[in-house]
Amino acid sequence: MTKAVAEHIRKPGVVCFAAEVDGKIAGYAAGEKKKTRQTELGQISYNAVLPEYRGRGIGRELVKHVMRNLSNSGARVLYVVTIDKDQPAAAMYEKLGFEKLTSHRYYTMDSKDIP
Ligand SMILES: CC(C)(COP(=O)(O)OP(=O)(O)OC[C@H]1O[C@@H](n2cnc3c(N)ncnc32)[C@H](O)[C@@H]1OP(=O)(O)O)[C@@H](O)C(=O)NCCC(=O)NCCS
Repeated sequence: MTKAVAEHIRKPGVVCFAAEVDGKIAGYAAGEKKKTRQTELGQISYNAVLPEYRGRGIGRELVKHVMRNLSNSGARVLYVVTIDKDQPAAAMYEKLGFEKLTSHRYYTMDSKDIP
């Protein structure tokens, strides 16, 4: 778990579930509710499974726990953001019923090259 995730899951309102296999944390999934003027959103904010435990259904069950928890606490629309390299994650979300909404293109440059 990265420092960013560890800090995130300590925030009030964030839910996080972990899967334990043989006394070891094999994976986790976190989420939080976000209120907009139109509706209550539930974001799947982080999830990951250790490489040696992938492909056993752990990721899917963890995300389902977060989805149900967000829904039970009032979220009407659920969402998650992935990047292209997270292909297994994208496949998992689509299997869970999420529909791809849009794609973003990120650009980067070194600030010393500003024209
Ligand atoms: C995404 C991740 C959490 C999936 O965890 P997992 O426990 O291996 O997933 P599951 O075994 O529950 O598989 C659920 C579905 O994910 C998809 N999936 C899993 N591994 C896949 C792979 N290598 N290639 C393509 N699809 C894959 C499949 O649709 C699978 O459903 P199926 O078994 O019915 O075909 C795991 O790959 C991971 O930790 N990735 C790195 C971190 C990451 O990308 N996090 C998401 C950031 S948004």
